[in-house]
Amino acid sequence: MIEAVRWSADGRGVRIIDQRALPGEYIERDLRTLDEVCDAIATLAVRGAPAIGVAGAMGLVASLDASTGLDASAFSGRLTANAARIRATRPTAVNLPWAIDRMLARAAGVRGTPLEILAALRDEATRILEEDRAMCRRIGEHGVGLLAPGARVLTHCNAGALATAGMGTALAPVYVAAERGAQVSVFADETRPLLQGSRLTAWELARAGIPVTVLTDGMAASLMHRGSIDLCIVGADRIAANGDFANKIGTYALAIVARHHGVPFYVAAPTSTIDTAVADGDAIVIEQRNADEVRRSFGHLIAPEEAAIYNPAFDVTPGELVTAFITDRGVVLPPYDFAAWGTHEA
Ligand code: MRU
Repeated sequence: MIEAVRWSADGRGVRIIDQRALPGEYIERDLRTLDEVCDAIATLAVRGAPAIGVAGAMGLVASLDASTGLDASAFSGRLTANAARIRATRPTAVNLPWAIDRMLARAAGVRGTPLEILAALRDEATRILEEDRAMCRRIGEHGVGLLAPGARVLTHCNAGALATAGMGTALAPVYVAAERGAQVSVFADETRPLLQGSRLTAWELARAGIPVTVLTDGMAASLMHRGSIDLCIVGADRIAANGDFANKIGTYALAIVARHHGVPFYVAAPTSTIDTAVADGDAIVIEQRNADEVRRSFGHLIAPEEAAIYNPAFDVTPGELVTAFITDRGVVLPPYDFAAWGTHEA
């Protein structure tokens, strides 16, 4: 299984697969400074809700590596400032503030030198990494029962291994089914504008030897009309207490199309993606990204410079369109009430 985020060889930086270069080139990069960490998250070199939480926590450690010579109060100021900058890189996925808050709480519990605080932070980031891996595996094991032999799964964006520290969320049941010898196949929405579906989902599935077919986002309805899709599984960036959830732009349309055709629509996510503080989807902040991501396609002008551009990175799908959530704690059926879930299961 690929490792989208891990410690660098010397244990002091964050080793990522640079997802901007895929599928043409496979490049690994070590992030060592605050600027490198923030730039990698903001430009989607590392992306996907769980992966940015893990990379944010580990990146905080890397960004403080050269600061242990500071006195206690200067070190604490640097920790607060670095955490705030990493947290602000992307607003929608709750995994990022969830991970940063865990790191700050761990540091607050240490009465010691900057070196000792950094050691505790390194330990906490490693726990976040390992827990994410374990949560992905549990999602896969809880979800695999939903895939009949020969199941044809439609997914949107990339919620696979590249989006987490482990085997992914939406793709975890697919990987577990494949491990057990089931003949499942995946249809991957291309996912405009940044093509996470065609560039990343198709790449990692092909690499794993799982049959994958790429379609452009507008083609899902006709595939479902022909009876070619058995179920949809997507990931999530933030799940509200009532089951409304944010995910990659286009997810909402896919959920409506699935409902129209009677195709089950599942959302796979770890506990770290549930935001019990948000009552419903209206309160989820949606990241707006640069117009050039839509105006140009990888360097080529595809809309006139004069046209206004609408480019939200995510949309919110009402919980009523979700057949079930596949979580690390099990499959959750409606009516949804995540308010009592707490934020994390160790
Ligand atoms: O902008 P991205 O590529 O970070 O968006 C990713 C998604 O929307 C994923 O579906 C979501 O983060 C879940 S990843 C397990």
